[in-house]
Amino acid sequence: MTIKKPYYVDFLVTSKCNLKCSFCSAAINSKNAHDELTLSEIQNIFRELDELQVLRVAIEGGEPFLRKDILDIMKFADQCDFDYYINTNATLIDQELAKKIGQTTVSKLCISIDGPNDLIHDSSRCVKGSFKKTINAINYLKKEKVNIDAIITISKINNNHIVDTLRFIKSIGINNVAIMFLATVGDAYKNLKNIYLSFNELKQVLYDLTVLKLENKLPVDLSLVPTGESLCPWEIYLPLKELGMEEHLGLWKNQNLVSSLPTNSFACTAGRDNFAIDSFGNVFGCSLMVSMNDLAAGNYRNSSLKQIWHESTLFNKLRNSSLSNIIGECKSCKYLDKCKGGCRACAFDLNKSIYASDTRCPLTKKTGADL
Ligand SMILES: C[S@@+](CC[C@H](N)C(=O)[O-])C[C@H]1O[C@@H](n2cnc3c(N)ncnc32)[C@H](O)[C@@H]1O
Ligand code: SF4
Ligand code: SF4
Repeated sequence: MTIKKPYYVDFLVTSKCNLKCSFCSAAINSKNAHDELTLSEIQNIFRELDELQVLRVAIEGGEPFLRKDILDIMKFADQCDFDYYINTNATLIDQELAKKIGQTTVSKLCISIDGPNDLIHDSSRCVKGSFKKTINAINYLKKEKVNIDAIITISKINNNHIVDTLRFIKSIGINNVAIMFLATVGDAYKNLKNIYLSFNELKQVLYDLTVLKLENKLPVDLSLVPTGESLCPWEIYLPLKELGMEEHLGLWKNQNLVSSLPTNSFACTAGRDNFAIDSFGNVFGCSLMVSMNDLAAGNYRNSSLKQIWHESTLFNKLRNSSLSNIIGECKSCKYLDKCKGGCRACAFDLNKSIYASDTRCPLTKKTGADL
């Protein structure tokens, strides 16, 4: 297939973090933390991203504000053609830093808020006091007129508090919220029992949110972010179908989906529209793949990003794969053409093949989910 330009890139500028979320997808071996990319390497990577005509870069981690040179990184990004935003837990942003962030051209900060109060949020982030720090930071950033979106990562810790969390987020002046569905990668894979929603729990959340949306009573502009990039992701479609509400699937259509994937391919844009770079220069199909060494497409320290994008065996395998390659339970599923096989990163982590089934799905009956 023809190789397109990458639209967007996730750049994990550090693997270190000050919080300890039990679901963290970015939990990678940070033993070699001294070997993380230097400021000048990051500057060169930014130049290469401009050469590749990338449209949007998400700076994330780990916790990006743990890097002492984060403001210098932002200043370099300010000079680039791509648009950039930062994913952060915001706990390290004080008044002075907020002022400096306000002087950059960052388009927004996407800040994780997992609950309506310290009890829920701190349980999710596994560090006491993190809620207070995040909310203080939001107040400082708002004073500096920095755009802020909120991200809720949904798990067993907060699934019964989602609507309250949306109301709380609205009350602090944030209007755009995304709910991330858990990918079973990184630390999430180790803690599945305590964090991964049962199908009934997922159904309840989908029911509550869909009813509120239909009644125009959602307090914020809400998007749901399943892990794959299908227009009919199983995480949304199957609960709605069970509830007899499948006609409302379109309410949750991902408006940001820029991909134009061939109809017979997996709903996975990794290595097709986007890629991710970790803090050691390793390049992956997407940020959910960074904990899996087997899914590295190359390293920036050995080859240019352009070379990796065009020549990587793994990227070409992802691009040339089609739904007919799928192995396991999904192969005989009647929804395969709609769902397009779920998430490749989760499928690999759970079943060790890029063509495997996404056995998080209750129809595969492996997760013990109660469909
Ligand atoms: C990896 S974090 C990096 C930025 C920052 N440390 C933070 O937590 O906001 C980016 C986003 O991914 C979410 N996330 C982490 N692990 C995840 C997983 N296993 N599945 C889905 N989202 C996850 C986080 O909650 C956060 O909103
Ligand atoms: S999700 Fe973010 S805040 Fe939580 S451990 Fe991972 S990198 Fe840190
Ligand atoms: S079994 Fe596979 S193809 Fe069918 S809905 Fe689940 S993830 Fe999608």
